[in-house]
Amino acid sequence: MIRLEQLYKTYIQGGNEIHALNGIDLKVGSGEFLAIMGASGSGKSTLLNILGALDRPSQGRYILSGQAVSEMDDDAASDIRNRYLGFIFQSFHLLPRLTVLENVLLPQRYCKTPDLEAAEDRARTLLNRIGLSHRIDHRPTELSGGQLQRAAIARALLNQPALLLADEPTGNLDSKSAADVIALLKELHQDGQTIVLVTHDSHIAQQAQTTIHLSDGRILAAQA
Ligand SMILES: Nc1ncnc2c1ncn2[C@@H]1O[C@H](COP(=O)(O)OP(=O)(O)O)[C@@H](O)[C@H]1O
Ligand SMILES: [Mg+2]
Repeated sequence: MIRLEQLYKTYIQGGNEIHALNGIDLKVGSGEFLAIMGASGSGKSTLLNILGALDRPSQGRYILSGQAVSEMDDDAASDIRNRYLGFIFQSFHLLPRLTVLENVLLPQRYCKTPDLEAAEDRARTLLNRIGLSHRIDHRPTELSGGQLQRAAIARALLNQPALLLADEPTGNLDSKSAADVIALLKELHQDGQTIVLVTHDSHIAQQAQTTIHLSDGRILAAQA
């Protein structure tokens, strides 16, 4: 489903070149749960941002479901984000003035052909499954960190993304909430969801199906 071919990303900062990615070749199959590990600065977020069509490689190709995302203009890339991708982040990114339900419904606002009724049904079903149906009309400030991240996962899943991307999703959580979030990701994987997760925690990476290690923008070792 995902193919990366000789991917490079070079940043220019203060006249210096920073080689964040140095020739990444990677395949992720449909339904796979991949963890990306590596020290701080190894290129994990850069790689995830490219997978998320939030950034473009300097060189190389990114193919998602047969489409060359690396060659797309901004409009086409944002269409790919809305239709194929779901994101969760370390800091949840829920909007404080909206209720949980309204937050989960946000991705529908960016659809070219919104179907609010179907989206709301789906949001309620997701929140129910994630164990948050009793918090549906609450605001984010009234939720715990674990609840916030589960709401963020429901939001990421609203448009039934082919690929769920997670950048350190347990980085701000206590160990019990982190375990809940990882259990939920595993459950989604068992239901067929393709997931790419960035973490520097090896216990969390162990829950994934496959792990790759990045170092200085290169893939060091793959293990099943
Ligand atoms: N927007 C940017 N401009 C300049 N350098 C950047 C930018 N983003 C990341 N980098 C650099 O690229 C390298 C990889 O960063 P990053 O992908 O954030 O690593 P990680 O997520 O593994 O900590 C680091 O050296 C970082 O300083
Ligand atoms: Mg990072």
